[in-house]
Amino acid sequence: MTVKGVFVTGTDTGIGKTVVAAGLVRGLVALGLRVAVMKPVASGSNRTDAGLRNEDALALMAASNVAVPYEAVNPYCFEPPISPHIAADEAGIRIDLAKIRRSFELLAEGSDWIVTEGAGGWLAPIGPATSIRELAMALHLPVLMVVGLRLGCINHALLTKLAIEAHGAQFAGWIANTIDPAMARRTQNLETLIRLIGEPPLAVVPTLPPQTLPLVLTAAAADLRAVLDPSCAAR
Ligand SMILES: Nc1ncnc2c1ncn2[C@@H]1O[C@H](COP(=O)(O)OP(=O)(O)O)[C@@H](O)[C@H]1O
Ligand SMILES: [Mg+2]
Repeated sequence: MTVKGVFVTGTDTGIGKTVVAAGLVRGLVALGLRVAVMKPVASGSNRTDAGLRNEDALALMAASNVAVPYEAVNPYCFEPPISPHIAADEAGIRIDLAKIRRSFELLAEGSDWIVTEGAGGWLAPIGPATSIRELAMALHLPVLMVVGLRLGCINHALLTKLAIEAHGAQFAGWIANTIDPAMARRTQNLETLIRLIGEPPLAVVPTLPPQTLPLVLTAAAADLRAVLDPSCAAR
């Protein structure tokens, strides 16, 4: 399978994974790629005539240029905005990684790239014995870490990177997201993150109105593609 992709995780929930993932999708589309998206497991969704719909999945689909059924993008969609393992348990559903993998392979057939967003952070549980970690690893995707710049993020970022690497997943880099424009000593925190993570971020996303975020991430998308697909960098 020649499809390339990335699994977007982050230091927490609500720190900009969807904003960054959708921006990367638009950036990759601007590079001329067919970019599919996945939000395999989502909790927190709205009832519609077509069924349950999650805003993250819809935001990713709006950025994508590959038309596929909603269910392929988001095979597991739960209504309450709670931890997916509890939402799944309450719904009497066991999340099947093989089913997610089949959806992924279906999307891969019609695309050049797949951007997949997790739920919560790297170890967020999605079942009694499974977490986002197992999900990402079932898809064999390199992992991009979004760091929401706010107090406490250095510890969360270092723990997340440590766990990604300890579990044997490929760390694809990180993106700093200015989630809190009022954060004290943001520059010093960013410098510390760069030093302790050991590499600069692919992008530092400022606090912006949503419609301008994609523009900021175009360069990051090209960098990410170059990191994950060295054959493109040489071209
Ligand atoms: N760089 C940014 N500038 C402005 N708002 C942002 C930025 N990043 C995230 N947000 C906002 O913060 C909230 C959480 O972002 P989201 O991408 O949904 O986080 P996650 O996917 O990690 O839960 C959303 O309302 C989003 O629009
Ligand atoms: Mg999200």
